[in-house]
Amino acid sequence: MDPKRWRLDGQLALVTGGSAGIGRAIARELLGFGADVLLAARDAAALDAARAELQEDFPEREIQAFVADVADEEQRRELLDWVEDFGEGLHVLVNNAGGNLSKAATDYTEDEWRQIFEVNLFSAFELSRYAHPLLTRHAASCIVNVGSVSGLTHVRTGAPYGMSKAALHQMTRNLAVEWAEDGVRVNAVAPWYIRTRRTSDKLADPDYLDEVLLRTPLGRIGEPEEVAAAVAFLCLPAAGYVTGECIAVDGGFLRYGF
Ligand SMILES: NC(=O)c1ccc[n+]([C@@H]2O[C@H](COP(=O)([O-])OP(=O)(O)OC[C@H]3O[C@@H](n4cnc5c(N)ncnc54)[C@H](OP(=O)(O)O)[C@@H]3O)[C@@H](O)[C@H]2O)c1
Repeated sequence: MDPKRWRLDGQLALVTGGSAGIGRAIARELLGFGADVLLAARDAAALDAARAELQEDFPEREIQAFVADVADEEQRRELLDWVEDFGEGLHVLVNNAGGNLSKAATDYTEDEWRQIFEVNLFSAFELSRYAHPLLTRHAASCIVNVGSVSGLTHVRTGAPYGMSKAALHQMTRNLAVEWAEDGVRVNAVAPWYIRTRRTSDKLADPDYLDEVLLRTPLGRIGEPEEVAAAVAFLCLPAAGYVTGECIAVDGGFLRYGF
């Protein structure tokens, strides 16, 4: 076994939404495998705190952060210009930043549901396209999109979130095929309930939590590190023949019929 197949030494990774939750866990996991990591998020203080915490744990790694709203076209371009200025191209892009506003379908204003698409889908498509020339500077590089089980079946998130994640999964398949000849693998993960700040309010309701657990064969809520592990696997040279795939990180939720 060649241990290099299970390492990311010398690789540069950009993780959007890297200041909290799943994104921060992904950054930590990639650092653990030897990558240098660039983080992006909107809140400068939280981003800097996350960067400092990771730097303390991985003093030998390069960790930099850039304040950007990936739902904003200009800021997306600025983010990728900043990445380009490192002069190393890019080995890994993780499109993790996402957001939601949960309502009945008839209650959304047009601006509200379009914004959900902007942050979950259009950001990932545009960042992937801008990153393409940086990714193709290397013989092998990859994109991992953080999708959701809501893009594969109905869950109670509201329709636009599920629609945007479904499109993100299809984007994964399309780009995987289109960019295979460029050496860029494109994969996704689909988490079910993961313990982060965005789920903490809902999961604090014991009745709701019971309902979620009843529908989860493994009988517990997932941890950000468990999503990060699947993302890291998809980035490794060991996964070099995996592209266009989606790994559910869902405690068996999607496989649970009656
Ligand atoms: N938690 C779950 O149960 C679950 C399940 C399925 C899928 N997911 C997906 O996993 C991803 C991460 O979710 P999470 O639970 O880890 O959320 P989280 O704990 O709220 O963290 C979200 C991260 O993304 C950043 N972010 C949000 N909007 C952004 C924007 N417009 N531009 C740049 N950064 C932005 C946040 O920082 P700022 O707010 O400072 O920008 C933060 O760093 C999302 O795509 C979500 O849809 C989560």
